[in-house]
Amino acid sequence: MIKACYIHIPFCSSICSYCDFCKVYYHDKWITDYLNSLEREIKNIYQGEELDTIYIGGGTPTCLNIDELKRLFEILKIFNISDHLEFTIEGNIESIDKEKLELFKTNKVNRLSIGVETFNPNHLKFLNRNHTTQEVTDKIKLIKNSDFDNINIDLIYAIPNQTIDDVKKDIELFLSLDLPHLSVYSLIIEEHTKLYIDGTKNIDEDLDYKMYKTINEMLSSSGYHQYEISNYAKDNYESRHNITYWNNDEYYGFGLGASGYIGNIRYTNTRSIDNYIKGNYIYESEKLNEIEKLENALILGLRKTKGISISEFNNKYHKDILNDEIVKGLIKEEKLIKEVDNIYINPKYLYLSNEILIRFIK
Ligand SMILES: C[S@@+](CC[C@H](N)C(=O)[O-])C[C@H]1O[C@@H](n2cnc3c(N)ncnc32)[C@H](O)[C@@H]1O
Ligand code: SF4
Repeated sequence: MIKACYIHIPFCSSICSYCDFCKVYYHDKWITDYLNSLEREIKNIYQGEELDTIYIGGGTPTCLNIDELKRLFEILKIFNISDHLEFTIEGNIESIDKEKLELFKTNKVNRLSIGVETFNPNHLKFLNRNHTTQEVTDKIKLIKNSDFDNINIDLIYAIPNQTIDDVKKDIELFLSLDLPHLSVYSLIIEEHTKLYIDGTKNIDEDLDYKMYKTINEMLSSSGYHQYEISNYAKDNYESRHNITYWNNDEYYGFGLGASGYIGNIRYTNTRSIDNYIKGNYIYESEKLNEIEKLENALILGLRKTKGISISEFNNKYHKDILNDEIVKGLIKEEKLIKEVDNIYINPKYLYLSNEILIRFIK
């Protein structure tokens, strides 16, 4: 039974130099048609299940104006929701205001995820982001005063010319905000981005690792636990929506470029806004066979620091995970640790998890 739903709002008021997510410049001429098409897509696909998590991501969903957001929430009234719904909306500092926060509250949004990336003015400029530390502090105060406590910010490290001290300063400023969740990503120079076109190079791998360790130590000594490679939370503030992905459970994905997993089919929607508005939603879809399902369960599940529950895995896939040759090999190499009912990546190797996870791809 599907319990999670992702909705993509692709509009952004400015485009960041590093971003290869599915996004387009905000233009009001598109919004009505986009939202109408989103409504048709949801009505075609949604089967009425009670949803436990909804995640409106982007792009920058908060860059819609108040009337556009009201229309979006009207569309979402179609969903049956559980009493303990986790309802996240993604946004940026500039586009959040009191009126929008009130609207979110009225419509049961109870989690906010905000791209801050860094507090350093030079690095912000390099990333083409436009906010000051004072604005971040003020907006977070406004969000808390509007009765939201489940708040995440995103940070990026490994920015060219960034030093360990800069990273420490960013984490100190994050800690000063007293928030329960942090997503922190090493900068990826993605193709098709300004950084890539400008020939930007990744920072030295050793420095990247030192930054990762610094972040890890500062957060763990401040009461945050790392529950996924890039995600840290105070107890009970882990993102239940994202855990759905890592548990390899099914979810709806609606909107431009969104992906979903329904009835053993993984699909990705078109990234062409013209096609999407015309109702040509799907770009590609693939029915998974048993081997691919297991592969996904291992690759996604081992991203979580507590890894995979052996009994749950065996029940769900009717296979003994401990009989898998790759799992056996990795346990022998001490890259995976087996505890009573769990297998997980040895924390020593978590930083290199991609190199471990890639071994599951047949
Ligand atoms: C798609 S954005 C959505 C949030 C919102 N649009 C914003 O940026 O304020 C989600 C997050 O992904 C991360 N991200 C995007 N591109 C990245 C890249 N190339 N390398 C590392 N992190 C990246 C950023 O931390 C960003 O906040
Ligand atoms: S990082 Fe966020 S705001 Fe920047 S271009 Fe990507 S989706 Fe838009």
